[in-house]
Amino acid sequence: PNNEFKHMVEAHTLAANFYSHLLLNTVEGEEALQYLEKRGFSRESIEKYRIGWSLNDYSALSDLLKRKRFELREMEQAGLCIMKDDGTGYFDRFRGRIMFPLCDDLGNVVAFSGRTLSSGKQEAKYLNSPETPIFEKGQLLYNFHNARLNVRKTGKVILFEGFMDTISADRAGVQNSVAVMGTSLSETHLIKLKRIAKEIIICCDGDDAGWEASKRFASMALKKGMEVRIALLPGRMDPDDYIAEYGEEAFREKIIANPHSYMSFIMSYAKRSKNLSYENDVLQYIHEVLEELASRSSPIERDLYIHQLSTETGITVEAIHQQFMKMV
Ligand code: GTP
Ligand code: MN
Ligand code: MN
Ligand code: MN
Ligand code: MN
Repeated sequence: PNNEFKHMVEAHTLAANFYSHLLLNTVEGEEALQYLEKRGFSRESIEKYRIGWSLNDYSALSDLLKRKRFELREMEQAGLCIMKDDGTGYFDRFRGRIMFPLCDDLGNVVAFSGRTLSSGKQEAKYLNSPETPIFEKGQLLYNFHNARLNVRKTGKVILFEGFMDTISADRAGVQNSVAVMGTSLSETHLIKLKRIAKEIIICCDGDDAGWEASKRFASMALKKGMEVRIALLPGRMDPDDYIAEYGEEAFREKIIANPHSYMSFIMSYAKRSKNLSYENDVLQYIHEVLEELASRSSPIERDLYIHQLSTETGITVEAIHQQFMKMV
């Protein structure tokens, strides 16, 4: 790697160690540490994921970087510092946040995501590094370097929406998971995952955005030729909430080991916004499911789900079948 790359990664490693020290060994980090403990983070995962704390201070990291002979102009390019409005110097980008290092595929720290401690809406919950020469947002999958071996071994990768979910799942014994940074999944992500896994288990948050994301991710992964399953969570929970509420074993056995097939997910998805005691909703429901089924080629699947539709709605198999033949 060139010098710029090397300096930027070294600076991120230094910053990660600094943040980690502040969290684990200082009075200033106590509140954050308590917050993490209250959320169920173990000491082991705090260390494994190199979680830290950035001081509520404008120059703590910049001063350290200067002392270690890094050029702040370059550190601004790396996303760690921001130039003052009057151009007279630089200040720290991350202040008063719980710091999550983001690593590239080799495990180099190349960026950070910082979570606020406050639950109010005044400031963004997460602040991420900007795109830099060492951090391409659409490329990075959280935990890829840790999970890679377990993904290869099991042939399965679990995909979460939030990196907090990956950390909790890991603690629960699910060690083949990655997370996107936000809700966008890219071609690059999928190419990377397909190389090491036959099957992808998509496990998004149980809120509306999560269901939408599941649908989007699932059809993208199907198009890429992966085997796709979708793990669903009750209520509006996310995986981390579920583990906190029902425990690690329930998460492993009921959620992760028991994912839906794509068609079964589509049926749940189509039913979500409907009330099947209304005629219109029944018609719309059947239509949506048949549309998906029309793009699937297996005769057995077609038969299976047409029967299921019939059982659920009370419409005869023959009628649903006739409707279906008009759509294909
Ligand atoms: P907790 O509330 O701490 O449990 O986080 P979460 O993992 O449940 O986050 P959430 O489901 O709200 O969001 C999922 C992912 O979207 C996060 O991991 C972030 O990558 C991203 N995200 C959420 N909120 C923000 C935000 O305010 N800014 C940015 N840049 N990204 C966000
Ligand atoms: Mn959110
Ligand atoms: Mn969410
Ligand atoms: Mn969430
Ligand atoms: Mn959460």
